[in-house]
Amino acid sequence: MSRLTLYEYPHPILKQKAQKVEVFDDGLRQLLDDMLEMMYECNGCGLAAPQVGISKRIVVIDIAKEDEEPDPLYMVNPEIVWSSDEKKVCEEGCLSVPGMRAEVERPAAVKVKYIDYNGEEKELSAQDFLAVAVQHELDHLDGILYIDHISRLKRQMLLKKLEKQRKEKA
Ligand code: NI
Repeated sequence: MSRLTLYEYPHPILKQKAQKVEVFDDGLRQLLDDMLEMMYECNGCGLAAPQVGISKRIVVIDIAKEDEEPDPLYMVNPEIVWSSDEKKVCEEGCLSVPGMRAEVERPAAVKVKYIDYNGEEKELSAQDFLAVAVQHELDHLDGILYIDHISRLKRQMLLKKLEKQRKEKA
């Protein structure tokens, strides 16, 4: 089992703007390893540090399918430097809003700059589902959840379902 704890909606840390990482050391790499492990354990394709109670600008992503080789992306201090005008709608879910899904409209493609596992600066052009994952995870660093992008009515319905599901599990 992973040594991290998953924080779920409506924990206030998920609403906070995360701080930039200033120190690149073994502790950071350990956290990246632990986050990736937790993400795989939860069958997620992305995880942001605030979701494990750490308000730092760190995300891990792996959109490889189950029958494909793992292809982890580690992003420290990521920043979107370009977004397409073209938008796309995709169904999203989030480990912090368990069991729920909703359609979200976002730019279809983005370019993201970040620092990787080895402390090197990288730039990545993402489209399709990778673009969705990048934008979803980077939103977490600014205290934004995918449910903040849907209509109020849809959000209220989704949160009601979440509450009901939690009561049934309790
Ligand atoms: Ni999420």
